[in-house]
Amino acid sequence: MTHAFPAPRHSHPDRPGFGPAPAHHAELEELLDLDALFGAPVLAQAMDEASHAMITEPRTIVDLGAGTGTGTVALAHRFPGARIHSIDASVGMLDRLREAARDAGVAANVEAHLADLDDDWIADLPDGIDLAWAALSLHHVGDPARLLRQVFDALRPGGALVVIEMTGETTYEPADLDTERSRLGERVVNTLAERGYPVVADWTRALESAGFAPIARSEATLTASTDTPDGARYLGLQLGFNRTLLGDGLEPDDLEAVDDAITRLRAGRATISAASGRAIWVAVRPVVAE
Ligand SMILES: C[S@@+](CC[C@H](N)C(=O)[O-])C[C@H]1O[C@@H](n2cnc3c(N)ncnc32)[C@H](O)[C@@H]1O
Repeated sequence: MTHAFPAPRHSHPDRPGFGPAPAHHAELEELLDLDALFGAPVLAQAMDEASHAMITEPRTIVDLGAGTGTGTVALAHRFPGARIHSIDASVGMLDRLREAARDAGVAANVEAHLADLDDDWIADLPDGIDLAWAALSLHHVGDPARLLRQVFDALRPGGALVVIEMTGETTYEPADLDTERSRLGERVVNTLAERGYPVVADWTRALESAGFAPIARSEATLTASTDTPDGARYLGLQLGFNRTLLGDGLEPDDLEAVDDAITRLRAGRATISAASGRAIWVAVRPVVAE
């Protein structure tokens, strides 16, 4: 099935939270591109850990819920001998991904697949995948346990799955978001958390249940600041999405201050930095002795 952006699914006790479909796709795509820039150290750490977990360099990689190609391009640079199959259910995302792969000079190694991870996505892929990559995407699917079993079966023994999610820990400097409202950033983060944002998922048990072993979990931090125009744009977009999610969940004076911070970020007149935690799982399909 093809759709612009998969809608959020209903809650399930075995599946920790999930976010809404953002209203503005162009802004989401821009945000994902900027994530690529500021999240590069996080991806580098995840790729280092995956490299250590695998016995040989990957030749066949699958990027699950590949979005605008952040992970795909990083993987193509890191593993130039690999063919990367990038899967997403959004036509718009895959268009951006192809463009990103062309711009990065790695298009020859990248194959984009329009497919729903809750459907028969595996049919088009080769056997014996070496590395599967699911960054900020596993919580979007309707049945993650099923998807993890499918990934386990599709990996060669000794192959690895990398899952990346947010930890939910975000801190701002200054804590008042460069407003006169003391600790405003904390109240924004706490109110969003009460509403289930960002999605904070712990996949360790689900990975164990699918048969993966060993499973390693580590953490990394994405930082961005208004020191650069890209940083200011990134923080402005982030806070803009957060503002939509906050609704009327803060006191009017706080909401006004958040609006003011967004306006000043967009005008390049705010001085703010943010640090946001990421959790990285590297899960290996065990090599079973004959
Ligand atoms: C938050 S984005 C992450 C994109 C990318 N992995 C990254 O790290 O930038 C989640 C992506 O998963 C895709 N997605 C969500 N549910 C999906 C499904 N059931 N099948 C295929 N793709 C899906 C969305 O279209 C979106 O591009």
